[in-house]
Amino acid sequence: GLHEVLGRARDWYAQQLKDHPDAKQAIDYLKSRGLDGKTALGFGIGFAPDGWNNLSTALGADATTTKALVNTGLLITKDDGGHYDRFRQRIMFPIEDYRGKLIGFGGRIIGQGEPKYLNSPETVLFHKGSELYGLHQARREIGLAAESVVVEGYMDVIGLAQNGIKHAVATMGTATTASHLQRLFRAAPAVVFCFDGDRAGRKAAWKAMQAALPLLTDERQVSFLLLPQGEDPDSLIRQEGTDAFKARLAAADPLPSFLFDSLSNELDLSRLDHRARLADQAKPLLDALPAGTFRQLMVERLSQIVGLSEQALAESPKQKAAAPIPTQKKGGSLSPIALAISLLVQQPQLAGALSEYFSVLPNDEESLKGSTLLQELFTCAQVGPELNTAQLLERMRSHPQHAALEKLAGQQHLGSDDKKSQVLQDCLIKLQNECREQELNALLQLSQSRRLNDAENTTLLALLQAQRNRAAD
Ligand code: UTP
Ligand code: MN
Repeated sequence: GLHEVLGRARDWYAQQLKDHPDAKQAIDYLKSRGLDGKTALGFGIGFAPDGWNNLSTALGADATTTKALVNTGLLITKDDGGHYDRFRQRIMFPIEDYRGKLIGFGGRIIGQGEPKYLNSPETVLFHKGSELYGLHQARREIGLAAESVVVEGYMDVIGLAQNGIKHAVATMGTATTASHLQRLFRAAPAVVFCFDGDRAGRKAAWKAMQAALPLLTDERQVSFLLLPQGEDPDSLIRQEGTDAFKARLAAADPLPSFLFDSLSNELDLSRLDHRARLADQAKPLLDALPAGTFRQLMVERLSQIVGLSEQALAESPKQKAAAPIPTQKKGGSLSPIALAISLLVQQPQLAGALSEYFSVLPNDEESLKGSTLLQELFTCAQVGPELNTAQLLERMRSHPQHAALEKLAGQQHLGSDDKKSQVLQDCLIKLQNECREQELNALLQLSQSRRLNDAENTTLLALLQAQRNRAAD
């Protein structure tokens, strides 16, 4: 089977790290990064030497082995039907699932070069969106610590483990998902996200928080440790030692203050309009929390920060402005926004693949009527890819436009699933174009009454360019 052939490949890669004439550079590199032999052995680290046909030569070129190697992603099929090794001249990190079954590899280039890491492709065994590097090995320690630590890289997990912090796991080049979190919460009730302090790290932390919100029952805790610019867990623990790093983990920012501080960062809370903005931005996030004491406390905290009673918050403008969604176009067909909502609520699993189209659409009613419902639905569908239509409707029950949503969920659409995905994508593109058109017109109008500032000018030029590109298509 696939596990068997992966296991043989792992053994062979590990053997090469000991025996291969070129292994010295790999070993020197690992040493230069402070790794000791015991840790390398513990994580099953290996070496894929240079060459295109090493695996077939070592493991067998018969049809059965070849097929298994192709299905695990270790061999790539050429146009002419031949095959070649995916991993060449790389340091190999075996990846196990939470039960300890080998499911793939990550391969690091030795020294500088691109791509730095190459991973096994998605296969029947390997799903980056739910697997975490190091989870099986860390499971016991996670239980003992009653906490898991999520970092960004293979070498971070390994560097931390070598220095005595053995309850860390890594995502593998993807954002943290609800499935990742479900795995972690099964092992312990607390999760600390430990990311770089740069923009990308902050963004990753925010996304992780959004994925965590719907899962935060009262007994669970999430916190955030953003490291100083330019440092990652691996570099930092070598530099400042285990105790200092443990102290950082213990002082990680709990989700409530991370959420409110991040939102308040660019606001001036002595200003009424800024407090209103904070309330508007925080509300949908708090709405994503499951009912319970924690959610209640978060609402109380928001109410203290913005100086509005909880009741007033509940009736905040977003709720009052439950403007009707423009459902019908003349002639009876659905408007693009209604069609998008309808398709998404019927097939929530489309959210994942089309996320980039949602991310460029606005999230306020002023720019696009119905967009707040569409975006909230999208968030729900993305954090809960396993939800079906009925469950999604249940999640959205408290939404002011729930009735309209239910109606749209019942609309008939013809065509195959593939076709619907295409229709939804077209629909989202159309909405984006409409929004751009609107913004363009608004800016042009504004430019008649006053000089545009730099940011406005940049936007205007980009919008004109986009319009020209569309016309050329
Ligand atoms: P980083 O770029 O932060 O690298 O990638 P790192 O972990 O610090 O790597 P070292 O310390 O230089 O060895 C973080 C993670 O993102 C994924 C890998 O899972 C990596 O561990 N990644 C990164 C890729 O999949 N491909 C890449 O080209 C780069
Ligand atoms: Mn690193």
